[in-house]
Amino acid sequence: SRIAILISGRGSNMAALIYASRADGCSYEVALVTGDKPQAHGLEVAVAESIAVEALDAKALGPAYWDKLHEVLKAADVDLIALAGFMRIIPDDFLARWDGRVVNIHPSLLPKHKGLATHEACLAARDKVTGATVHLVTPDLDSGEILGQVEVAVLSDDTAEALAERVLIAEHQLYPHIVSQFLGRTNDFDWITEK
Ligand code: GRF
Repeated sequence: SRIAILISGRGSNMAALIYASRADGCSYEVALVTGDKPQAHGLEVAVAESIAVEALDAKALGPAYWDKLHEVLKAADVDLIALAGFMRIIPDDFLARWDGRVVNIHPSLLPKHKGLATHEACLAARDKVTGATVHLVTPDLDSGEILGQVEVAVLSDDTAEALAERVLIAEHQLYPHIVSQFLGRTNDFDWITEK
């Protein structure tokens, strides 16, 4: 299967998805890295790793951005869109065109702590355990079907930054694993539909 990764910044989950795609038995290849900010650091990493990159500028494109994004994803013939630190709310009509084929990683054990500042929320709630979740993207923010989760213990002296750093390590393990598993599962269904 072919995936596109959408980023807005650092791209460490993007890098984890790229590196894992080179391992034996991985069910996907990274066909494209794109996003909404041409200056996103992750784009440089993807170029250095010889991955096809489309540097779209959502601000400059305005409302035309979503059609342009759809076009580049279609041209790359991707089966799945993996959001990785993509900081833009996706319009419903775009999502409808990719229904069931957009996944995201979120740094909490959903349904706990949706939205931003998850680690602050986790510490404020005095949670003993947090983690990361890979889920399907639906119009309701951070509420689509959960595909996989990993737990991370909260330490008594944790700061939001320290917690974010450890959860990120867990994210890098979880995301490629779940994407590979999910696409393996989807391929089984393809075979059934073709009959
Ligand atoms: C990650 O913590 C991810 O869970 C969240 O945004 C962060 C992106 O980091 N959605 P990176 O760009 O993958 O390094």
